[in-house]
Amino acid sequence: MADQSEVPQFKALPAHIAIIMDGNGRWAAARHLPRMAGHREGTENLRRVITACVEFGIEYLTIYAFSTENWKRPKDEVSGLMQIMADALEKEVGELNKQGVRINHIGRLEKLDVPLRQGIINAVELTKNNDRLILNVAWNYGGRDEIVYAVQEIVKKGIKPEEITEVTITENLFTRGIPDPDLVIRTSGEQRISNFLTWQSAYSEWYFTETLWPDFDKEELRKAIIDFGSRNRRFGGRTAEEEKKQYAG
Ligand code: FPP
Repeated sequence: MADQSEVPQFKALPAHIAIIMDGNGRWAAARHLPRMAGHREGTENLRRVITACVEFGIEYLTIYAFSTENWKRPKDEVSGLMQIMADALEKEVGELNKQGVRINHIGRLEKLDVPLRQGIINAVELTKNNDRLILNVAWNYGGRDEIVYAVQEIVKKGIKPEEITEVTITENLFTRGIPDPDLVIRTSGEQRISNFLTWQSAYSEWYFTETLWPDFDKEELRKAIIDFGSRNRRFGGRTAEEEKKQYAG
C-alpha cells in the first residue's frame, strides 16, 4: 500500500507547472567543479522532480532544457550539454515510460546534435500513449521564436487576417493542446522570464527561489505548490468572494 504520508493535501494543485532550471553553473562553481558537473547534477535532479510531480498528481510539467539563446554559450558547453541530455534520455526513458510519463518536445528539432535529436524522436514515439504526466521538454526553444513559428503556420494555412483570434495563435504554437501553465518556477534567484512560454504565461503565477536547480528537491517543490495555494488568481477579473464583499449590504 502506498505510504499515505507521501500524499500531501495541497490547498490547490496546479495542473501545469513550468520550470526554468537555473543555477547549475553556480552550484558547480561553489564546489570548485567544472560547469558540466553542475549540468550533470541538474539532470539527476530533474529525474527526482519528475518523480515528485508524478507522486503529487501534477498533470503537465514543462521544463526549459535548452533555449534559442543558449547557442551563444561556448561551443564546449553546448556540445557537453547536448551529450548529457542525449545520455540522460537514453538512460531514463524506459523508467519514465514505466511511470506513465509522456515526453513531448517543444521547440525546433533542427540544429540539435543528431544523437539528441534521435533520442527525442525515440522518446516521443515510445511514450506517446502515456497520460499520467505530460512532460514537455523545451529543446532549442524560444518564446518569441514560437510566436514566429505560429505566424508562419497561420500564413501557410491561408487563414484570413480577420479570422485570426487568440485561439488561432494558441492552436498554432508548439504547445497546442496543452493548457497554459498555472505556476512557473525559476530557481537560483534570477527574476526574469528569459523568453520562456512568452504567450502561455500571461496569467501564470510566478515563484522565484534562491535555491539552485540541483538542490531544488521534492521538499522545495512542495513549498512552491503550497505557496501557489495561497495565491488569489483573478485572470484580470475579480474573484467571486471579492464581488460578494463589495456588494454585500
Ligand atoms: C541553467 O543553468 C541550466 C541550463 C542552461 C541547462 C538546463 C538543463 C538541464 C538541467 C538538463 C536537462 C536534461 C534533460 C534530459 C532534459 P546555468 O548554466 O545558466 O547556471 P548558472 O546561471 O549558475 O551559470
